[in-house]
Amino acid sequence: MNNFNFYSPTEFVFGKGRESDAGFYAKKYGGTKVLLHYGGGSAVRSGLLDRVKQSLTANGIPFCELGGVKPNPRDTLVYEGIELCRKEQIDMILAVGGGSTIDSSKAIAMGVPYAGDFWDFFSTGKQIERAIPVGTVLTIAAAGSEGSGDAVITKEADGLKRGTGSDLIRPRFSILNPELTCTLPAYQTACGATDIMAHVFERYFTNTTEVEITDRLCEAVLQTMIKETPRVIADPANYDARSNIMWAGTVAHTNIVGVGREQDWNSHGIEHELSALYDCAHGAGLAVIMPAWMTYVYKHDVMRFAQVAVRVWGCSMNFADPEATALEGISRFRKFLHEIGMPINFEELGAKESDIPLLVERFGIGDGKTGGFVHLSAADIAEIYRIAAHASL
Ligand code: NZQ
Ligand code: ZN
Repeated sequence: MNNFNFYSPTEFVFGKGRESDAGFYAKKYGGTKVLLHYGGGSAVRSGLLDRVKQSLTANGIPFCELGGVKPNPRDTLVYEGIELCRKEQIDMILAVGGGSTIDSSKAIAMGVPYAGDFWDFFSTGKQIERAIPVGTVLTIAAAGSEGSGDAVITKEADGLKRGTGSDLIRPRFSILNPELTCTLPAYQTACGATDIMAHVFERYFTNTTEVEITDRLCEAVLQTMIKETPRVIADPANYDARSNIMWAGTVAHTNIVGVGREQDWNSHGIEHELSALYDCAHGAGLAVIMPAWMTYVYKHDVMRFAQVAVRVWGCSMNFADPEATALEGISRFRKFLHEIGMPINFEELGAKESDIPLLVERFGIGDGKTGGFVHLSAADIAEIYRIAAHASL
């Protein structure tokens, strides 16, 4: 196991009705005037936004509102938010929504005290030095942004989707009420489940040895998702299954399942070009890319792929032919994704094979290599897109 720091300062407030404590936690973490930031309307329609407003008012906290965050959140709304926060002297952002709303909130939070263009943090690798605090009321179990130090934003003008990270943008508090996720369409539930599993796989496939504790934590999260996802697809109001998935989503991305080991993250980078170009859901893009990446790289460590096949997917170990076991695990993953309603190839996602050169170019590694588990070149990435284009059960 490698040396590591684990820093997860967010206060997680979990359970039924907990959004009515939003005002209490905003006050606790120093908010005196809050920007309520939300998406395309689900939080308005469900009455959630009104309940959060009531809680802020009951705690004597004034607020402004900025709705309209789109999935794959855009820089244009971030600029609007930064201007509004400066004008209204906002000192906390409360995100009510999913990963897109939370990431947009984080981008506004880093932009408000910064004299330059906030996009610098996404395009140049410039380090964030200050940010106003962010709190969240989560409405979808997926991106894990409620507990992560990451934000991913798309630049409207050229469609570039880029990420940045800093402990300064980790939410101070996140309210997780699984009931709020019961209104999710099955497709969004499945996209979220796929993203949660992908966050674990990005960490599971590692060259670091002797990391049994994180291997086992990863396997627990994956097994939970395999059990609970079909339950909520069949029964969307199942609170117990929704609870397990919601907490799994947070656990999958605070990095507690990744510490002490090298991690990969190529599948995420490869997927981000799909959601940037086609504006598809991140989870749906991952459903197409992650098994393709596995198919391309499994020979790098057949025994690790066989291990996950046996421990997570319940395959029998073929000692005479471990490669067959590894491949059976990948095949079960793809079948699982299909069964929960995810696309498994380009056609089902709405992507075009003829765009592969463009996707690779926008991925932008030139002659370099990228990835923690297997270092991939631009030609490797093109091959993964090709496998994804033609995948079948
Ligand atoms: O906008 P509204 O009307 O709220 O509708 C949303 C949106 O259409 C809807 N929704 C959310 N909660 C709902 C609901 N509909 C009904 N009932 C509810 N309770 O779901 C749709 C998707 O929402 P979004 O916030 O886009 O989903 P998600 O949480 O999957 O976030 C995806 C974004 O997060 C980024 C992705 O790249 C993508 O841009 N990621 C962020 C990460 C991070 N910050 O750590 C890590 C991830 O790997 C990921 O890259
Ligand atoms: Zn993700």
